[in-house]
Amino acid sequence: MADIIDGKAVAKTLDGETKAQIDAMVAAGLPRPGLAVVLVGSDPASEVYVGRKIKKSQELGITSFEHRLPAETSQEELLALIARLNADNAVNGILVQVPLPAHIDTGLVLRAIAPSKDVDGFHPVNVGRLSTGTGGIIPCTPFGVMKLLDTVFDDLTGLDVVVIGKSNIVGKPIAMLMLEREATVTVTHIETKDLPDICRQADVIIAAAGAPELVRGYWVKPGAVIIDVGITRRKTEDGKTKLVGDVKFDEVQHARAVTPVPGGVGPMTISCLMANTVQAARDQVE
Ligand code: GUN
Repeated sequence: MADIIDGKAVAKTLDGETKAQIDAMVAAGLPRPGLAVVLVGSDPASEVYVGRKIKKSQELGITSFEHRLPAETSQEELLALIARLNADNAVNGILVQVPLPAHIDTGLVLRAIAPSKDVDGFHPVNVGRLSTGTGGIIPCTPFGVMKLLDTVFDDLTGLDVVVIGKSNIVGKPIAMLMLEREATVTVTHIETKDLPDICRQADVIIAAAGAPELVRGYWVKPGAVIIDVGITRRKTEDGKTKLVGDVKFDEVQHARAVTPVPGGVGPMTISCLMANTVQAARDQVE
């Protein structure tokens, strides 16, 4: 049987480290880190995510500033809010929940966030720094994936890693982080030929396609490690919602280790957001 990589437990350890850093900052007379969370409209999934981010901030002792704006908010109003948050010293991190309503240019809004406060790591300055190995803020999900892999491997040097999915938020930044760690990276996507064959070569598979149960048992080499970033909501016969990953979990028990869905990558993302907020606060003091 494959080992289950327990994202909840790893996230709890990271939360403990983050809280200890916050306590030390406060004890040293520094201000408590602050995170502004901006939600435009009332997309139900976004409401859940934003609620969790605010709750976790409070648990760890990060001051949270909640900005819930109506769906009709204009782009100018949103940009004006971001300008105020950029200038506010009590705000160390700014998170604008996406997706934004269609009348708002998401790229323009994300580029308006000061790179030093961009705790999502979405700003082109942070993307560029990550791609050149020159620091910056690492996007939360890729950061969490690396932390999970670090519980399995001491060293990623020379490993064959296959990333499924080339999104700006997950696939591409993970590829950059893997390259920094001297892995050999293959990034695949919906147009990739012979995806099962490519995956069968992999020591590590990162499944981030958003395609439920795409990765089948015969795609996986015995002893490979699988990180499943997929989360698709599926209605069950009794009307409940079930989260389904990108990996057919029951078929990959010949892997060395695999993350479950839920309870794998998901809990890490929010804990990495908190860690990024504290890192941003520390960098802003210097
Ligand atoms: N929507 C879904 N995931 C995320 C995320 O990580 N950050 C932001 N800002 N919005 C999201």
